Amino acid sequence: MNHSTDAGMNKTGIDMSPIDIKELLSGVEASEPSSQGDEQTLAAYRRSYIMEADPIGFVPVPGSLKGAAKTGMQKLMGKKPEVLLDKLGARLAFERAGTRLYDALLDKCSVRSDEVAGLSGGLSLDRLREFRNEEAQHFMLVMEAIKDLGADPTAVTPGADIDGVASIGLMQVMTDPRTSIAQSLHVLLIAELADHDGWQLLIKLAEELGQDDMAGKFRGALAEEGQHLTTIREFVEKSCMSEAGVS
Ligand SMILES: [Fe+2]
Ligand SMILES: [Fe+2]
Repeated sequence: MNHSTDAGMNKTGIDMSPIDIKELLSGVEASEPSSQGDEQTLAAYRRSYIMEADPIGFVPVPGSLKGAAKTGMQKLMGKKPEVLLDKLGARLAFERAGTRLYDALLDKCSVRSDEVAGLSGGLSLDRLREFRNEEAQHFMLVMEAIKDLGADPTAVTPGADIDGVASIGLMQVMTDPRTSIAQSLHVLLIAELADHDGWQLLIKLAEELGQDDMAGKFRGALAEEGQHLTTIREFVEKSCMSEAGVS
C-alpha cells in the first residue's frame, strides 16, 4: 500500500489546472452568496442561540444515602462535590473511548504488519496491548471511585457527554480503513495528551475535596498515562521522521 504522504493524485489545489485559474477566479467574483448577511449576521445568530440555550446537562444527585451524606457533608464545608462527580464521569467516558481507540489501532496493525515493521525504531504491539489494557483498568478504577461516592457510574454527566462528543472525531479517523498507522498514532497522541491532563486535574480536584484515598489510587493511573504519552509521542516522531527519510 502507498503511504498517503507519497506524491500522487490530488486535485484539490488550484495549480492542478493553471489554464483554468482565470475562469475559476472570475466564477468566484460572479457568484452570489447562497444566503443574506455576513459574519456579523452569523455572530448575531450564534449569540441569540447562546442566550436561549439550556445547560448541556446536569450532574445527577447520588442515588444512595451514603453518597448523599458524603456530598452533603462537603457542601457544608463550602465546596461543590458535583464538580468531582462531573469530572469522574468525564474520565470514565474518555477511558472507555481510549480503550476503543487502542482496540481499533491494534486491528489496523494486524492487517498492516508491513507498515508496522517499517516504522523506524519499531512499534511494539505488545506495548500497545499493555496500554489498551491499562485504559480498560483505568475505566474500572474510575467506575469504582464513582460507586464509592454513592454515585451512579451509568449516568452520563455533562463532562462525560462533552468528552464523548469530542472523541468522536478521533474515533472516526482511527477507524477509517484508509488511514495509515502513522496517521492513527497521531490521533492516539491527541487522546493521550488529553488523557494525561485529565488525570492530573482530577487528582488535584480529589485532593482539594478531601478525597485522599481516591487521589492516591489515581496517581498510579497518572504514572501509567505518563508512560503512554511518552511512548506514543516517540512513536509519532519516529514514524514521521522515518516517512520523511530522516532519522
Ligand atoms: Fe487513559
Ligand atoms: Fe492513556
